[in-house]
Amino acid sequence: MNVKNKLINMYDLITCLTNACDLINPQLVNHHLQVGYLALKIGEELGLPKKQLKDLILAGLLHDVGALEYNERLELIENEPPTAQSHAFKGARLLEGFSYLKNAAEIIRFHHVPWNKGQGAAYSGQEVPLLSHIIHLADRVAVQIDRNREVLGQVSGILKRIQSQKNTNFVPELVDILNKIGRHEYIWLDMVNHYLPNILMDTMLFDTMDLSIEETIELAKIFAKIIDFRSPYTANHSAGVAKTAEKLAELAGFSDIECKMMLIAGYLHDLGKLAIPNDVLEKTGKLDINEFNLIRCHSYYTYRLLQPIKEFEQIAIWAASHHEKLNGEGYPFHLGADCIPLGSRIMAVADIFTAVTEDRPYRKGMGYEETVRVLNSMVENKSICPYVVSIVIDNFDLINQIRIEAQQKASIDYNRYMADD
Ligand SMILES: [Fe+2]
Ligand SMILES: [Fe+2]
Ligand SMILES: [Fe+2]
Repeated sequence: MNVKNKLINMYDLITCLTNACDLINPQLVNHHLQVGYLALKIGEELGLPKKQLKDLILAGLLHDVGALEYNERLELIENEPPTAQSHAFKGARLLEGFSYLKNAAEIIRFHHVPWNKGQGAAYSGQEVPLLSHIIHLADRVAVQIDRNREVLGQVSGILKRIQSQKNTNFVPELVDILNKIGRHEYIWLDMVNHYLPNILMDTMLFDTMDLSIEETIELAKIFAKIIDFRSPYTANHSAGVAKTAEKLAELAGFSDIECKMMLIAGYLHDLGKLAIPNDVLEKTGKLDINEFNLIRCHSYYTYRLLQPIKEFEQIAIWAASHHEKLNGEGYPFHLGADCIPLGSRIMAVADIFTAVTEDRPYRKGMGYEETVRVLNSMVENKSICPYVVSIVIDNFDLINQIRIEAQQKASIDYNRYMADD
């Protein structure tokens, strides 16, 4: 793959992230897309300029990234608890550092502020963008759609309930717009349509949003936070894996651009972990068979989420085959030595190296001798690549230092993310 000159479409990456976040709970499938779509329709009716419509869709697609726990997401779907502000602020903190998402982050920060007869025009002295109120309204409409029933029969009930909160929870002008566009069947049919991602893409709003490789790395770093910050046990894992894999790639003679791709793959290798409930993710004791099966799904989901991004063909393979083994006993594809490329071998070793050397809240990481023993025994039983392990052993201190620094940095980010608002 040549990504050097090829730019990566940001919409593809964002929908990948949206789909990953919606894995947290099957009840949420397409929720982010529905909110993005309905917000767009309200924004169009309001006559907002193209630039704002784009930010509105992005905010809709990502509005709940700060709510990464299964139960928290479910609660937000069912009602709007007073604690809802917290995930809105967290979501904004995750995204605000990336220039393309700065405006979306501002919108997300206030997406649960009630209108409260006009008092919701500001929150703690800060102006609340009208676009936040649009997301709020679209979100509260989308959560009312019962996926198991035909949608058109639900419309009048949904609109009635929204109408009853006009001026208290929602901006009156926006409720009027919703009532107006809500008469159009196609809006509701689009919202429950399987092809909603394509429908949004067809708006052509994202045609010109291509990211360079450097920008893609920045966005992948945000993905890593979304994956890792769900739990203090994993809070800096992907950062360690990414930097370790990048260094191993460099030492193995990969080109500059390939090393950058490896870094991206490292940040994304556990993307499918968003499908694993927190209690399983955080279990330190032995997993039962059902829990283990849930864990075994994650690299499969990583593959399926990344694979639709056409510029990520290589990255998807490197990222998703980190639990494959040379003896064919790994998962989910049971690739054997003949089919596991060097990039995937590097990722597997980077993952194991990071997992055993990193400190976790419940245990200390291993030192040199123990780590080498673990890696060598895995070479012996033909799980991992002897060549890559030899690179680790020859450069242990260098690689370990890079891992430590990356994880320390990620921990600082995590503490900031978790800070009270
Ligand atoms: Fe929310
Ligand atoms: Fe993994
Ligand atoms: Fe991992």
